[in-house]
Amino acid sequence: MIENIKLLMATQTGSAEDVATQVKEALEESGFNVNWQDLAMLEDISFLREASLIIGVVSTWGDGEPPDDAVEFFNKLRDSEALNLPGTPIAILGLGDSGYDIFNGCGIELEKELQRHGGSPLLERVDCDVWYDDDVAAWINDLREKLLLARIPVEPTG
Ligand SMILES: Cc1cc2nc3c(=O)[nH]c(=O)nc-3n(C[C@H](O)[C@H](O)[C@H](O)COP(=O)(O)O)c2cc1C
Repeated sequence: MIENIKLLMATQTGSAEDVATQVKEALEESGFNVNWQDLAMLEDISFLREASLIIGVVSTWGDGEPPDDAVEFFNKLRDSEALNLPGTPIAILGLGDSGYDIFNGCGIELEKELQRHGGSPLLERVDCDVWYDDDVAAWINDLREKLLLARIPVEPTG
């Protein structure tokens, strides 16, 4: 059973928050509990150990950097010794703009660092460009299908 789904969200102007809300609502409609975690002003990363699935919806700012409020979380993630997560599945969606030199740097770094800490991608990361509605919808569908498949063997049949 996927008991503890952590949905990490980092935004500057609200788009990633809107997308993360779509992710949360879609998964909850399918019967999953989703624990929302805004990365703003967060310095503790140890809570990741309790997650059975880590979803990340983050935007990129500056020169390929996290939103301002999430910089401390990313510093901690980057500078900490590996958490040794037990292959925890991870699913990352980044929002960016391919007109910038470092397209979706924050989403890419989040996936890379979570892998260093012991996470394992459940599905391919999506790097969303300026017009992202279709990519977001397709990614949410893929994620939901993967989770529904993962749930089948452990659900009571009677
Ligand atoms: C000043 C500025 C800097 C940005 N820098 C980047 C960047 O380096 N790489 C990238 O892929 N997108 C960059 N973007 C695009 C944003 O990531 C994109 O607009 C995103 O949808 C914003 O999401 P948010 O509202 O959740 O913060 C930048 C946008 C602005 C306005």
